[in-house]
Amino acid sequence: MKVLLTGANGQVGRCTQDVYAGSDHELKALGRDALDISDAAAVAQTVKAFCPDVIINAAAYTAVDKAESEPELAYAINVAGPANLADAAAEVNALLIHISTDYVFDGTAHTPYSEGDETNPQGVYGQTKLDGEREVQRRCNRHIILRTAWVFSEYGNNFVKTMLRLGKERNELGVVADQVGCPTYAGDIATACLAIARRVVDGNECYGTYHYAGDLAVSWHAFACAIFEEANNSGLISAKPAVNAITTADYPTPAARPAYSVMTGEKLANDFGVPACDWRNALRGVLGKLA
Ligand SMILES: NC(=O)c1ccc[n+]([C@@H]2O[C@H](COP(=O)([O-])OP(=O)(O)OC[C@H]3O[C@@H](n4cnc5c(N)ncnc54)[C@H](OP(=O)(O)O)[C@@H]3O)[C@@H](O)[C@H]2O)c1
Repeated sequence: MKVLLTGANGQVGRCTQDVYAGSDHELKALGRDALDISDAAAVAQTVKAFCPDVIINAAAYTAVDKAESEPELAYAINVAGPANLADAAAEVNALLIHISTDYVFDGTAHTPYSEGDETNPQGVYGQTKLDGEREVQRRCNRHIILRTAWVFSEYGNNFVKTMLRLGKERNELGVVADQVGCPTYAGDIATACLAIARRVVDGNECYGTYHYAGDLAVSWHAFACAIFEEANNSGLISAKPAVNAITTADYPTPAARPAYSVMTGEKLANDFGVPACDWRNALRGVLGKLA
């Protein structure tokens, strides 16, 4: 299987490279410097030259707050980028796996979101990700849109690394307790993408939008407590800081975030045999790698 990966230096991108390193598939991993997905001509030319079976788009504008003041750039990367990839994938009949987000929802639900539930993004980032999904749906029949959430890994910047830094610097900190979601390890997303790609290439012709996230919903506060618990157990921090529960109103940010963005992964489990991932176990693994 020939796989073209975009955004190869991000969290999901780096983990995808790790996952494919242990497989017999041919992976062409391109970071932003090698392929800017907002450049339509470059995307078309790269895809035509490599002629992949599968394209995994892990490239995105992911700065949720900054997007509020950079909507054009967020649009170019999160809408025009996937549109370019979808056109190029359709041209060579490749499967396009495009990663999206729980932030397409407004968070007013009280039970886990299904793929068909109404979307209503609360900020520029979520809106551009939703518009990107629509471009993919419109332009490329053979697509999988994989919505995920609260991504962490040993790579790049993420909540786990921020908490570890703060845990070393402070004895006490406040973390938002009224936003609930599902932490997800980037390595598990990469593994899920590989499993999906294999199944589709082997003839499981299921396409469309799917949810894939950690199996246990928590608040940022509970996630922070779990991080400090595991980090203390593994010796990464010498003492657990006090973690105070604060509200979203106590911690204003430029972009509004959904209060509840839990997603059910039943459809992916049914169609592809890929169950929701165990983020607690993955967290232990990431902390081990960071130790
Ligand atoms: N992070 C989360 O909590 C989260 C939650 C839900 C969904 N997601 C989705 O999951 C996917 C992967 O996220 P991630 O956490 O791996 O993001 P990430 O670590 O921020 O990686 C994104 C990568 O995309 C690259 N990129 C930006 N603009 C590009 C362009 N024009 N052309 C090519 N590459 C470009 C970035 O390069 P530079 O570093 O050079 O900018 C970066 O390496 C994204 O679709 C994101 O929307 C993420």
